[in-house]
Amino acid sequence: MQYKKFLKGVEGLSKKIAEEDNILIVSHHDADGITACAIMLRLFKEIDRSADFKIIKQLDSSNILEIDCCKYSTIIFTDMGSGQIELIKKSINNFYIIDHHTPVGEHERQLNPHFFGYDGGSDVSGAGMAYFVARALGCREIADLAIVGAVGDMQDSEGRFESLNRKILDDGVKEKILKVRHDLRLFGRQSRTLPQMLAYASEPVLPGLTGNPGECAQFIQNLGISLNGEENKKWRRYIDLKKEEREKLRDALFIHLLNLNTPEFLINKLFGEVYTLLKGEKGTELRDAKEFATVMNACGRQEQSEIGVKVCTGENDENWKNAKRLLKMHRQNLREGLDFLRTTSLDEKNNFYYFDAGDLIKESIVGVVAGMAYGARIIPPDKPVLALADDKDDAAMKKVSARANWGLIRKGIHLGNAMRSACEKVEGEGGGHDIAAGARIPKEKENEFLNLVNEIFEEQLK
Ligand code: C5P
Ligand code: C5P
Ligand code: ZN
Repeated sequence: MQYKKFLKGVEGLSKKIAEEDNILIVSHHDADGITACAIMLRLFKEIDRSADFKIIKQLDSSNILEIDCCKYSTIIFTDMGSGQIELIKKSINNFYIIDHHTPVGEHERQLNPHFFGYDGGSDVSGAGMAYFVARALGCREIADLAIVGAVGDMQDSEGRFESLNRKILDDGVKEKILKVRHDLRLFGRQSRTLPQMLAYASEPVLPGLTGNPGECAQFIQNLGISLNGEENKKWRRYIDLKKEEREKLRDALFIHLLNLNTPEFLINKLFGEVYTLLKGEKGTELRDAKEFATVMNACGRQEQSEIGVKVCTGENDENWKNAKRLLKMHRQNLREGLDFLRTTSLDEKNNFYYFDAGDLIKESIVGVVAGMAYGARIIPPDKPVLALADDKDDAAMKKVSARANWGLIRKGIHLGNAMRSACEKVEGEGGGHDIAAGARIPKEKENEFLNLVNEIFEEQLK
């Protein structure tokens, strides 16, 4: 019933979009926003419409003015817009919003899963919403991009996809462009050497192994698994292991965690669905949804989203080289961010933890770092965390990123609502999902903002 209604909604909006030409797609600068944009580009290419794109880090009262409405007949916002609909209505005449963020108002040209009883935080991503529109207009073999978007937004964090994401996955499997497997969920199955894959594990942390490639190599060799290939002596990756070797490694990690009294729910995070992108070359980041999403984030968060979009639309060679360079730098930035957190003491209010990284962590990744630190238990999970950093473009402003977990959501926490209400009172702009949200606030109002958020959380927890 719910799904039928949803499809009707999709169809209605798709029909209108099919009438448009000379389009500008405006999307968000992370993996989900980039893949959403790429899906729309694929669609417009197939139905022979002219479309440009612009990727931005957020939509606010200043940068909305930079959208050149005279040059285009229509503006389509993907993976953003539902939280800024009032702003959009004021500034743009002909627009569409295809988004999954918590909406603040209805509009006939807005497609958002919340109006059909779905949760945009877990059931479908921005790329997923774009997928349904593109599919309704006859576009095929794009489910892989939608799955990358959902993985980028961590909608698989419970170990599998449900709901609308599941429908997309099923399409991709049927079309033979996606493969789902229940397996070890460590990052780097395709592209990392075995010791690297274990050494970088953060969700869960592998005590004695995480951060310690030497120990990891020993651990693997003790299982009788060779680190190098027999013929070419090249480092082996997880995908190079034989079936029995994979099983051996999985069992050994399980027992390792069990012996160290790791709580069961953390051990469980080690296993779950993994998604292979069958169009991607084996052994590259393009072959695994999580690795692909990280490459997209690396591009977006370093303000080179165009490269990410072009990798998605298949303009590979030079772009792929550049994307890999950005990935390297992104990892370095994340490592430095986590090191900063390990050596800094967290501040605390009754209802959340917070830290201010100043200019030591870039605003574009401060939320990603906070999320990773949460996963790695550098930040305790009993309260949400707010991560602050200097606004790169405006010295008078601060960027805030907020992260929570499912346990806190169940208790009533909704970060997006909290960011939005607190911002209304300090002349900031914010919003997002229950589990991940953000804001931009005047620096001088930082304390007031933090106290307001503290009160709002108090209310939400009642
Ligand atoms: O704007 P958008 O919806 O694309 O961004 C969602 C953000 O929320 C991503 O940065 C994602 O990593 C984060 N997230 C998270 N934990 C979750 C779900 C999403 O940190 N469980
Ligand atoms: O930037 P960050 O990864 O922390 O963003 C987390 C979520 O909050 C994203 O879904 C983003 O779209 C949203 N956000 C927002 N308004 C802001 C900043 C972030 O809605 N000013
Ligand atoms: Zn998204």
